[in-house]
Amino acid sequence: MINILLIENDPGTMDILQHALSTEFGAVVFVEESAAEAIKFLKDHSIRLIISRDKLEHGDQIENTGHKILSYLYEMSEKPPPIIVMGEVEFSGIEFETISTNFKVDKITTLIKKVMGLSKEDMEQLKMPDYISIPLGHFYLMNVSPVDVYIKIGKKGPKQFVKRILKGDEFDKSVIERYEKDGLVEFFVPKEDRILFMDNLMEQSIAKLKSGDLKEEESVEIISDAYEINQELLKDMKVSEHAVKMCRASMESMVATVQNNKKMATLLRAILNNKGSYAYRHSHLICLFGYEVIPKLQWGSLEQFQQNYEKLVFVAFFHDILLAEDRLIEIESKRQLYDADLSEEEKQLVSNHANLASTIVQQYPKSPNGADVIIRQHHGQSNGVGFAESYKIGLSAMSILFIVLEYFAGRIIKFESPKDSVPGIFQEMEEKFPLSTYRKAINALKETLISEVKENPEK
Ligand SMILES: [Fe+2]
Ligand SMILES: [Fe+2]
Repeated sequence: MINILLIENDPGTMDILQHALSTEFGAVVFVEESAAEAIKFLKDHSIRLIISRDKLEHGDQIENTGHKILSYLYEMSEKPPPIIVMGEVEFSGIEFETISTNFKVDKITTLIKKVMGLSKEDMEQLKMPDYISIPLGHFYLMNVSPVDVYIKIGKKGPKQFVKRILKGDEFDKSVIERYEKDGLVEFFVPKEDRILFMDNLMEQSIAKLKSGDLKEEESVEIISDAYEINQELLKDMKVSEHAVKMCRASMESMVATVQNNKKMATLLRAILNNKGSYAYRHSHLICLFGYEVIPKLQWGSLEQFQQNYEKLVFVAFFHDILLAEDRLIEIESKRQLYDADLSEEEKQLVSNHANLASTIVQQYPKSPNGADVIIRQHHGQSNGVGFAESYKIGLSAMSILFIVLEYFAGRIIKFESPKDSVPGIFQEMEEKFPLSTYRKAINALKETLISEVKENPEK
């Protein structure tokens, strides 16, 4: 996969280039809208090609974007990626190409092949395949496909694609689950139908997320399926418009379940009984507990409560979004990471997941202020890499609350009776988090559960 960084703020050019680069080179295109943001991005990502505008307007200021990026590349210690500047720029010291701002698409693709040294064979490899793989989970919230859907047959030799779901055919989750039982993991849609399929998938899934008047278990199952789709949409670290819509609807649904919920125990049971991932279940639990705990911390007015709660939900939703498998998310210390039977790539992902998730939300439009920092620090490390040995004082109150709620949510998911008891878990938490700032959050959580038990003694 080729990662391309595009530095541009004109929506028209962005659209044309994103489309051309993904169909022609199968590329993932990251967009930044200023030199400073692009440089920040380049510090954390390895990029195969940069395409930058010569100048960008920011309000009434004109930035010499191309020149700034070239200067940054010139200073880089390692070999800089090739760069194409749209417009005019003068710079000496490194090689670069320019193209006029009103270029034709085929001009720029030819230039890209040249600067990246791509041969005909390379191009064959890079081009989007004729049939695009769609994970089975994407179909959970769909009832009708807008295009024909195929399966691939023949493991060896030439691949053949056979129609399985016809355009317009109705189906439900149980049909998809039957395919899963038979060992199928992906369907395929023809590449020319991909966009129509994805648009439709979003529409149907979001409609399901927004359907009111469901039982707790039903809402939880829909949100859990949607979470899986979101993980799939974000796994290449790119926040598409589809992903934004789907994540937003998912978070709104999570909040709605919590707000409409009369007894904490009912929703709690629905989440704990859900068959979805640990990542999803602990996120929803953090939202459930946080809703009751934040007011007890007396952080301020109702308006501030709403802002804080929105931030907590956002962090809960995104912090482990890249860990799709339970065996990855259960690793919570250096020691466990060292001992785990994981590939090098999986170890890298586990170790970096906080930092990577924080990079994802930086691309998310209007993310709550400071949420990226809490996500980066959720394992106690300020750079978001690895796991802290001990819990520090220097974190914000919201980070601390999050760490406490997450720990509790995890322990409730793994609750084993008669070995575990809620008072036992609290004692364990008091030993694990001896600092007074953590104690405050723990006490607020305790108070929440005590009042909950008083109101609903049957639990
Ligand atoms: Fe987590
Ligand atoms: Fe995590």
